[in-house]
Amino acid sequence: MVSASFFAAVSYIIYSMNTHNLSAKTAAFLETESTYGAHNYHPLPVVLERGKGVFLYDVDGKRYYDFLSGYSAVNQGHCHPKIIASLVEQAQKLTLTSRAFHNNLLGEYSKFITQYFGYDKVLPMNTGVEGGETAIKLARRWAYTKKGVAENQAKIVFAEGNFWGRTMAAISSSTDPSSYKGFGPFMPGFALVPYNDIAALEEALKDSNVAAFMVEPIQGEAGVVLPDDGYLQSVRALCTKYNVLFIADEIQTGLARTGTMLACDHEGVRPDILILGKALSGGVLPVSAVLADDFIMMNIHPGEHGSTYGGNPLACAVAITALSVLKEEKMAENATVMGELLRAELAKLNSPFITTIRGRGLLNAIVIKHANPEASWDFCLELKENGLLAKPTHGDKIRFAPPLIITKEQILESVDIIHRSLKILA
Ligand SMILES: Cc1ncc(COP(=O)(O)O)c(C=O)c1O
Repeated sequence: MVSASFFAAVSYIIYSMNTHNLSAKTAAFLETESTYGAHNYHPLPVVLERGKGVFLYDVDGKRYYDFLSGYSAVNQGHCHPKIIASLVEQAQKLTLTSRAFHNNLLGEYSKFITQYFGYDKVLPMNTGVEGGETAIKLARRWAYTKKGVAENQAKIVFAEGNFWGRTMAAISSSTDPSSYKGFGPFMPGFALVPYNDIAALEEALKDSNVAAFMVEPIQGEAGVVLPDDGYLQSVRALCTKYNVLFIADEIQTGLARTGTMLACDHEGVRPDILILGKALSGGVLPVSAVLADDFIMMNIHPGEHGSTYGGNPLACAVAITALSVLKEEKMAENATVMGELLRAELAKLNSPFITTIRGRGLLNAIVIKHANPEASWDFCLELKENGLLAKPTHGDKIRFAPPLIITKEQILESVDIIHRSLKILA
């Protein structure tokens, strides 16, 4: 007998094929995922099975420019041959020991990454949000042991519009209702100031219980929001003045994405705590890292923080190669040149539907203005039809952040796709 769910599946497939111009194969993948997976994402209806460099390929073999790069995890390009070679080689030797024992790569990796960024110590974690949690724990511990804040009184200040993940602590500092609504009660000891507002920050830091200010040098998820020139320098100066730690969340902006190794480098400032993730593995597995000097890091003792997978030898091998290729292939320099080209070519389109083109290096966004509130989504569907993948954030903003290995010809071809796709909005 044919079950009701069979009919539901078939009708879903036919519906998807008609409404989204999808192949039966693609629609079947969507149906299975939708039936058995939680609905906590709203992806574009494309099913990818292969990636190489700046390109992704769907299950029907169609090629796309990747203009999201796994939210900037794939800065080095999909399946970078050197990163994959390190992955495969190490996977055949040893992948996980836990921190109950030493492994032969953790020391080498720790030396490599601390020298690479100029900090005394690294604390290895896995996802970006764990990096943020770790930074906050380090800051609170420093406040109690070094700054003299009374137990349980430490405060962390964040900027409005921040995004650093989905844990309870991360959503407790969020100003986006879709992140926090319906998930309370929230983490105490967090305060908010407007982004890019130095006067408000100074007021907040006057509170002697403040341990740290945690901020993205450019707000990525908020839609690539750049602060005024000099903001990071002022943040640095205020944090020093009020004996508050400056935590830079460079999970999205770091690792050559904005044209320098760190986005903080644009203003020549050094945060007290640096959080990295995403492209630290080139998109191969979750690897994050928190870097700080001894006066912060050495307040945490055995048993007080950790993670089963943090510092595993597979991650160490991959991260060393992922960082090496950024420099070897001059990806920061390419991001600068290609970013300028991309923004200039987008400006030349002179579209009435694009109100803003902004960004730094290859972290860019456009803002769409249209009577139809679904216009950005429809535009991204059209981009997909024409062979380019991008995704709206916060309704009207679309990030354009291809892998950093993109060439001039590829930028020009991508802008041509964007140009052709804009016709759908007319
Ligand atoms: C700036 C920033 N911080 C932290 C995170 C969280 O990283 P993850 O999703 O790996 O936990 C993100 C993710 O998009 C991010 O953009």
